[in-house]
Amino acid sequence: MSASQDCRRYLVDIDSNSTPQLFTDCLVIGGGIAGLRAAIEAAQKCSVILLCKDSLENSNTWKAQGGIASVLTGEDNFESHIEDTLNAGCGINDLNIVDMVIRQGPELIKQLLDWGTEFDIENNHIATTFEGGHRYSRVAHAHGDETGKIIAQTLIEKVKQNNNIKIIENFYTIDLLTNSDNKCVGVVGQNSRSRQIIWAPNTILATGGAGRLYRETTNPEVATGDGIAMAWRAGAVLTDLEFMQFHPTTLYVAGASRALITEALRGEGAVLVDCKGKAFMPDYHPDAELAPRDIVSRAILSQMLKTKSTHVFLDVRKFEKEHFAKRFPTISELCRSFDIDTTKDLIPVRPSAHYMVGGVETDTNAATSVTSLYACGEIAATGLHGANRLGSNSLLEGLVFGKIAGNNAAEDIKKITSYTKRTNIEYHITPSDRTRLDTEDVTNSLRALMWRNVGITRSKKPLTEAQEIITFWHRYVMDKVFDSRTGWQCQNMLTDALLMAQAAEKRRESRGVHFRSDYPLKNDQKFKKHILISR
Ligand code: SIN
Repeated sequence: MSASQDCRRYLVDIDSNSTPQLFTDCLVIGGGIAGLRAAIEAAQKCSVILLCKDSLENSNTWKAQGGIASVLTGEDNFESHIEDTLNAGCGINDLNIVDMVIRQGPELIKQLLDWGTEFDIENNHIATTFEGGHRYSRVAHAHGDETGKIIAQTLIEKVKQNNNIKIIENFYTIDLLTNSDNKCVGVVGQNSRSRQIIWAPNTILATGGAGRLYRETTNPEVATGDGIAMAWRAGAVLTDLEFMQFHPTTLYVAGASRALITEALRGEGAVLVDCKGKAFMPDYHPDAELAPRDIVSRAILSQMLKTKSTHVFLDVRKFEKEHFAKRFPTISELCRSFDIDTTKDLIPVRPSAHYMVGGVETDTNAATSVTSLYACGEIAATGLHGANRLGSNSLLEGLVFGKIAGNNAAEDIKKITSYTKRTNIEYHITPSDRTRLDTEDVTNSLRALMWRNVGITRSKKPLTEAQEIITFWHRYVMDKVFDSRTGWQCQNMLTDALLMAQAAEKRRESRGVHFRSDYPLKNDQKFKKHILISR
């Protein structure tokens, strides 16, 4: 059974006549860097509603530590940044997009600086650092390792000051609404009190990633891939779902929630050692700690296996204490809270799911295959990353494509001389009778299954088994009509998981972050292409 056979168009009953309604020119779903930047751009020309699943402070952007990559120093140049991005992407990046995003970087970062973002400054210039796969020091950071938070705060402030933008937090978007011409006309969702419909001639999807599909992840609880599932139900073309990036270094303390340990640490000299104290990365790649993320993640797994250990360590003991606390305040505080003295102790780490490289396919205008639906940020597959994202290219992509999506959505409004603000939509589902369904249990089991069977190393048997098990769960979860976000979230996660496992099975080669132990080599003849999925 494929996902397309057992999922209905909408997750809930819809009756547009009896549901409270709001109207706006441009609807933005998501409060990370891409959604915020899109809202700011669109609001120059039209009214905007910005929806956020939780609070604006709860996003992957807020948690981003390392920084934002761009050509910011005299020794660096666009060609090198483009080449590094292409090398990481393993042959399937879109060259035009790579070129466009990288060339816009410096200007948009300068704009952030002008808007008040407190980037770290050295000798009157934005300070930069190294990260894996970047041949020059080009990762800008703010307040040490609080880069995402500091950028988000600037954008949130700007959004709050803008009278054209109405912010609605704690709004769970259940589904995108489409009319009979397959045009997106708004959303149905649940605010803190009741069901609500919001009509808009243009909608921008900026809902972020799906790291929570995995038991081990750096992502916050909100990153459950809702946008992917709702775009798929609305008929959007999705691509590259097999490419889930695993971050090599997540704090591994049994019982503690997983937390990102930024790659910038390795960029500045931290060393990976195994449980015997051996620095093992030179055995795996000439660039050692600064090899691409997929290689470092697999090397860590292999070393864990060799040493029969649940984790490896990051050695940061050589960093001078005061400098470390100033440069990496988030990591310092995190380590301190677990009694890890970074001047004496090693930091226990292992890889975990971090970034969804694929997503909703978009063109140079950030438009999806569904009319009037744009996408930007982690949910969008713009072609920038190819089969593997270069560290710190994602905040850059969110900034560039947020601006493009906001501008194009607002320009579209001008072209519409008259539009029906409201479409009658009625959709009724016959409810099932599964009162004893425990969605939390299904969600936890799904996350464990994805980690085991659709994780860092894949092969046919576990991928087939994952699809069979998820299909079985689909049978009794997908026909239920939930009235809570945990239920809808579980349905979305099951939808995403099946699509990801299907895509991972289809790509019978290894490329970028997708590693198949049964097809360990790249096969350009058959697979130098994208795997597209639509309903
Ligand atoms: C990190 O700080 O290591 C994560 C940054 C990124 O994923 O780009």
